[in-house]
Amino acid sequence: MLILGIESSCDETGVALYHTERGLLAHALHSQVALHQDYGGVVPELASRDHIRRVLPLTREVMAEAGCALDTLDAIAYTAGPGLAGALLVGAGVAHGLAYALGVPAVGVHHLEGHLLSPLMDHPAPGFPFVALLVSGGHTQLMRVSGVGEYEMLGETRDDAAGEAFDKSAQLLGLGYPGGPAIAQLAERGHAGRFKLPRPMLAKPDRKASLDFSFSGLKTAVRLAARDIAADDEQARADLAAELQAAIVDSLCTKSLAALEQTGLRQLVVAGGVAANRALRARLAQAAREKQLQVFYPRPELCTDNGAMIAHAAALRLVREPLPPASAAGAPFGVRARWPLDELKP
Ligand code: KG4
Ligand code: ZN
Repeated sequence: MLILGIESSCDETGVALYHTERGLLAHALHSQVALHQDYGGVVPELASRDHIRRVLPLTREVMAEAGCALDTLDAIAYTAGPGLAGALLVGAGVAHGLAYALGVPAVGVHHLEGHLLSPLMDHPAPGFPFVALLVSGGHTQLMRVSGVGEYEMLGETRDDAAGEAFDKSAQLLGLGYPGGPAIAQLAERGHAGRFKLPRPMLAKPDRKASLDFSFSGLKTAVRLAARDIAADDEQARADLAAELQAAIVDSLCTKSLAALEQTGLRQLVVAGGVAANRALRARLAQAAREKQLQVFYPRPELCTDNGAMIAHAAALRLVREPLPPASAAGAPFGVRARWPLDELKP
């Protein structure tokens, strides 16, 4: 089965071709980082307009790269939510139009399901059940994953997402958007510990750990610390970035290990943009060695948003339950800006 995947939930247009036997054949991405940089965050209307500009050229690009004709497609997958409604509608509209023209199904995929199943595209792949840590700009969740569509929420952030904590703090430090890579880069020259940032919701050793996160206090603490740093004190800025990264990594690692312990599972999947963070990977690798755990990531270029994870998740769904071809009449389609992952069915 050959599936075209379209991702347009936020600030990346991703298109990919995934084959159920041959794997990922081609993928292409256009990042809108430069478009939103001056605003310090994503401007939804600009995002939607840019998706419109990019989605068809990217589709032509992946079809050409894989040497496939449109009429060999068996399904068109698109991100149906959660995300920016206008941005989602671009992918949904194109997918439904194309699917109708080709007489194939259009498959709406949950963005986070795409992320958390994406390590299954590679070898070695995790086997069900596993614990998934989803860490992106909009989400920070720990799930028990028992199968496709079998997701049990173990814990989630009560306020900001981990990526959001990176992004907002980066803004306070005068770094660009997105903040995660910028903070990580600055942190390489700094030392954690000189500044003291809070690690909220880490349990006392004698208590059962809560698996929820809280990151909103960090930006206030960063704002207060940054206020006292002289504009030309590069070392202090780097030290603050290192402490911020350490605080976020501490929370993510501690909670992930607690989730593995509480569920009795030994495999952890880490997905979403923050999964690209090297300090997080180093800490988890060390814990994995010490506790004989296995940690899985999507391949690096598939950590942030992409069309491959959408095509792949649709493939896993379609082999279990085939869908009828998209029809023009009486087939309204919607997108969901908000869509809790544990509402999905197997
Ligand atoms: O999954 P993603 O591409 O988009 C969402 O669905 O949100 O994640 C984007 C987030 C941003 O907050 C960005 O700052 C963060 O991932 N990010 C990182 C790194 N690369 C991206 N955070 C920390 N370290 C990184 N290397
Ligand atoms: Zn994402």
